[in-house]
Amino acid sequence: MIVASERIPVAGPSITEREVELAAEAARTAWYANHYAYNLRFEAMMADYVGVKHAVSVPHATSALHLILAALGIGQGDEVIVPDVTWIASVAPIVYVGAEPVFVDILPDTWCIDPAAVEAAIGPRTRAILGVDLYGSMCDWHALEAIAQRHGLHLIEDAAEALGSAYHGRRAGCFGEAAAFSFHGSKTVATGEGGMLVTDSRDLYERVLCLRDHGRAPGDHRRFINQEIGFKYRMNGVTAALGVAQMERIDRLIAHKRAIFGWYRQRLDGIDGITLNAEPAGTENSYWMVTIVLDAALGLDKFELMAEFDKRNIDTRPFFSPLSSMEAFADRPAARRLIGPGDRGQAIARHGLNLPSGYNMNEDKVELVVAALTEILVEKGASITPKHGRRLSAPALQGFP
Ligand SMILES: Cc1ncc(COP(=O)(O)O)c(C=O)c1O
Repeated sequence: MIVASERIPVAGPSITEREVELAAEAARTAWYANHYAYNLRFEAMMADYVGVKHAVSVPHATSALHLILAALGIGQGDEVIVPDVTWIASVAPIVYVGAEPVFVDILPDTWCIDPAAVEAAIGPRTRAILGVDLYGSMCDWHALEAIAQRHGLHLIEDAAEALGSAYHGRRAGCFGEAAAFSFHGSKTVATGEGGMLVTDSRDLYERVLCLRDHGRAPGDHRRFINQEIGFKYRMNGVTAALGVAQMERIDRLIAHKRAIFGWYRQRLDGIDGITLNAEPAGTENSYWMVTIVLDAALGLDKFELMAEFDKRNIDTRPFFSPLSSMEAFADRPAARRLIGPGDRGQAIARHGLNLPSGYNMNEDKVELVVAALTEILVEKGASITPKHGRRLSAPALQGFP
């Protein structure tokens, strides 16, 4: 049996001396009048990179989504349409504001929300559509924009997993009225925990600043007057400094993510029974997580596959499970009403797996993961023909930290 000599983790950041230097500098200097200096730098870098006017640093993407929904006035009695297959953090904030999620099926290629199902799910209580750019794939934003406009609905982008991806010339984070990014330690840009809310709307931006700071008007640094009950959702300066260091080399980070995917693709693409992340025409995928979906005919579900990888000292993650059938939503009738073909997301999620995609991956480790996958499938009776990759020469990436 193929066993990795050292555990191969499923995800992880790239941290250099620059991150350490800026974090230490922030720990020393981000106080008094300077306390928000690194946040301002990080916010400006994100707004510039994404191509939006405003960025607000927050503790995580969950809080960014919570703030967006609250700032848009979504609450009790409202419904928000979301994809059935995503991480629960896309949906929990809908419940936090007192609204109800309505789950719809996903598309077979990008694994993102199906616009036809969105249209079918719209009812008198619908207030918003929340698209999730899953694993770096982009939603069909043109279709979602048209639906939102036709029905007078808010449109929100959960870009937590998609920094660096693009859709028809616009980067992830540009779609809808506002978007959320995550900088969790597993993400493309990592600060441990962290998030960014981005928007082009000045009004939304100001509303978010007030809500983020316990309902104090932006700029009220001395009077401490609370206009309403808000939240305490600010990012600390050391975290922001880590974000600045990461954004200084964002292009290299994305290039490495794409290289990792390329190494897998070279070995797995075209093998019958294995589907990889898609990059439809007009889109760019930053491939946060390399993901495979196995043909049901191979007869292996994701948890069995994970157990097999685990024996080989390789860490993987299951494709997110459909939320409409989770216990967490058992008492919510709106959430139980899955709209769309329904079995698509179920089938994808049952046989889908994230392969190791952290920044510490190199071509040799990818080769080993693919050899382990081939071994597992052949052992289970699959007749697949392994492809052996010609080594890609990527001099710019040699010595990637
Ligand atoms: C699609 C999606 N949305 C939202 C989040 C929430 O991000 P955070 O952990 O920063 O709150 C995540 C993080 O895992 C995610 O994958």
